[in-house]
Amino acid sequence: MATNRTLTMIKPDAVRNGHIGGILEQMVGSGFKIIAMKYTKLSKEKAGEFYAVHKERPFYGELVDFMSSGPIVAAVLEKDNAVEDFRTLIGSTNPAEAAPGTIRAKYATSIGENAVHGSDSDENAALEASFHFAATEIFA
Ligand code: CMP
Repeated sequence: MATNRTLTMIKPDAVRNGHIGGILEQMVGSGFKIIAMKYTKLSKEKAGEFYAVHKERPFYGELVDFMSSGPIVAAVLEKDNAVEDFRTLIGSTNPAEAAPGTIRAKYATSIGENAVHGSDSDENAALEASFHFAATEIFA
C-alpha cells in the first residue's frame, strides 16, 4: 500500500467562492505534487457512495446534498507521509478549531461546508483515488 499518496476534493463551497486557485497554490507550495486531477460534479448517488462510511451519522443527508450541490475538484497528491502531512495542512474538520494558516482556517465556512477533503488513512487514500480516477488517469 502506497504511503505517499492522498486524495483531496476541493468542495462545492470553495469552488463557488472562487478558491480553487488559492487552495491548489497552497497544496503545491507545501510540497504536494498533483499526479491526477479533474473538475467534476458528484451525483447524489456518487456522493452517498463516497461518504457511505458516515451513513448512520445525523449529518449524512446534509453532507450528501452539499457534496452534490455543485462542481468539485478531485485530485491525487503525492508527497512523503502524504496522508498525515495533508491533514496537518488542511486543519481540523471544524474550521473554528483549525490552526491559523491552514486551508480550512482560511477558506472554510462551517464544519459541514469545510472547503476540502483529505483521506484519513493510506487504505482510504487508495480506495478514494480509485473512486475518482482510473489507473490510466494517474501520472506518478
Ligand atoms: P470530510 O473530511 O470530507 O469527511 C467527512 C465530512 O463530514 C467532513 O469533512 C464534513 O464535511 C462532514 N461533517 C463532519 N462532521 C459534521 C457535522 N457535525 N455536521 C455536518 N457535517 C459534518
